[in-house]
Amino acid sequence: MNKFDTTIIGSGPGGYVAAIRCAQLGMKTALIERYSTLGGTCLNVGCIPSKALLDSSEHFENASKHFEAHGIKAEKIELDWPRMRQRKDDVVEQTCAGIEYLMKKNKITVINGHASFKDKETIDVVAVDGTQQTVNTERVIIATGSKPSSIPGVVCDKKRIITSTEALSLENVPEKLIVIGGGVIGLELGSVYARLGAEVQVVEFLDRLIPGMDFSLAKEVQRILKKQGMKFFISHAVQSATVSANKVKVSALNKKCEEVEFNGDYCLVAVGRRAYTNKLGLEKIGITPDKQGRIPVNENLETAVPGIYAIGDVVAGAMLAHKAEEEGTFVAETMAGQKPHINYKAIPGVLYTWPEAAGVGFTEDELKAENYNYKSGSFPFKALGRARASMDTDGFVKVLADKETDEILGIHLVGARAADLIAEAVVALEYRASAEDIARMSHAHPTYAEAIKEAMLDATGKRSIHM
Ligand code: FAD
Ligand code: NAI
Repeated sequence: MNKFDTTIIGSGPGGYVAAIRCAQLGMKTALIERYSTLGGTCLNVGCIPSKALLDSSEHFENASKHFEAHGIKAEKIELDWPRMRQRKDDVVEQTCAGIEYLMKKNKITVINGHASFKDKETIDVVAVDGTQQTVNTERVIIATGSKPSSIPGVVCDKKRIITSTEALSLENVPEKLIVIGGGVIGLELGSVYARLGAEVQVVEFLDRLIPGMDFSLAKEVQRILKKQGMKFFISHAVQSATVSANKVKVSALNKKCEEVEFNGDYCLVAVGRRAYTNKLGLEKIGITPDKQGRIPVNENLETAVPGIYAIGDVVAGAMLAHKAEEEGTFVAETMAGQKPHINYKAIPGVLYTWPEAAGVGFTEDELKAENYNYKSGSFPFKALGRARASMDTDGFVKVLADKETDEILGIHLVGARAADLIAEAVVALEYRASAEDIARMSHAHPTYAEAIKEAMLDATGKRSIHM
């Protein structure tokens, strides 16, 4: 029987990072993964393939629509969709292979197969070919992630009514794509196909897009994506989706309770994800998932069973790769007797449309709900030299700070490279900087980052220079 100090179930960004950190800390470590490739949702059917397609489709959009303004004549721009899809698959393959290399380098034993608890120290693993082995372990980290969820009246047949996984590998670019859900997946994958020529209709239940992010970002993103050709139907409650003769019909009720029909050749269901613990044998060790299927954990991410921890999408909190990674490191270091910390309020959220949107800290609605005494400052990208040079003038930076102490409480932005710019905001929040601190720091010119400095100047006495 294999015997390990720590066994991790699931090789996504939570699991593989935890495995590396455990090995670095001297534990004899095993990583169990039911699929043939490592990397979980993020590398195989999530972050990496979606960003590969977002990048390629953005090049296509730029070549088709924006080169001319830059003085570049490119006639007969054509889409080679199989090639674009293949490039995405190549990126995924290389990235997954990279994780395999890291496992070898850190002397982590990778076991292929579906894991289930026999008891708290014994895990059975069944490989795809049916071969079985047993792992004995002192401690376990459950990192089994999540799967797409659906809504009543909508069954994903995975052919015409699809999840994000199928949407990443469609045979053809849809002519008409209906997207149920105006969250991150709906907008990212919706914008991929809109750029490639599909008519994209987004049907959202709430009265806004990207819930969870600051409302000002939702409004700006909707305005910009509408300009790019996407159509939005907010405050529409989807009732059903049906397929006939390769066409999908989606029926929804609008605010006035009138029935609205949408027709397309595909329907992408992007209404959130659900923690995944199928056939994990949790009942054998006395762990009961909560109503949303998540594994309950304490502040150390330890379950009700001492020595068994859970991290990432399978526990409460944002379903983000970098949150799962932080938790993987946190648990490994906690098990090794260290005192790590995670500041959940300093975990950024990013939407990878173009322009991108990103935020960290409190949203304005959260501060209002708490009657917090805050002030705000903002700066539009159109007043930025760098943005004008690249013709990326959409968007703004908004900073929220404590009215008395000037401590930064939240930073939210839409604009070119927002996904990278948010790192400065994370540093500011983590070190509890004041708006004045950032306002007084030199920001290279010309850069998009200058918009952050200008927003800080605006927040501290309305003294932005370029407005
Ligand atoms: P997962 O990555 O889901 O990994 C869990 C692993 O456990 C899987 O490989 C699974 O096969 C394995 N497993 C499950 N049960 C068992 C078992 N019993 N035995 C053995 N193995 C098992 N997040 C971001 O931060 N940025 C993004 O840009 C982003 N883009 C995304 C795009 C899409 C289309 C999707 C779907 C998600 C995206 N996410 C993004 C979310 C991100 O992918 C997840 O938050 C992240 O993968 C969660 O990591 P995890 O380790 O908790 O679980
Ligand atoms: P989401 O929670 O972001 O969005 C789901 C949307 O569906 C919400 O706007 C919700 O109001 C809407 N909805 C729910 N029921 C509906 C109904 N009946 N009719 C119409 N709309 C309805 O979830 P999404 O987009 O599926 O993404 C899942 C997870 O994956 C997210 O939690 C996210 O964290 C992660 N992810 C992260 C990305 C990133 O960091 N850039 C990219 C893609 C996914």
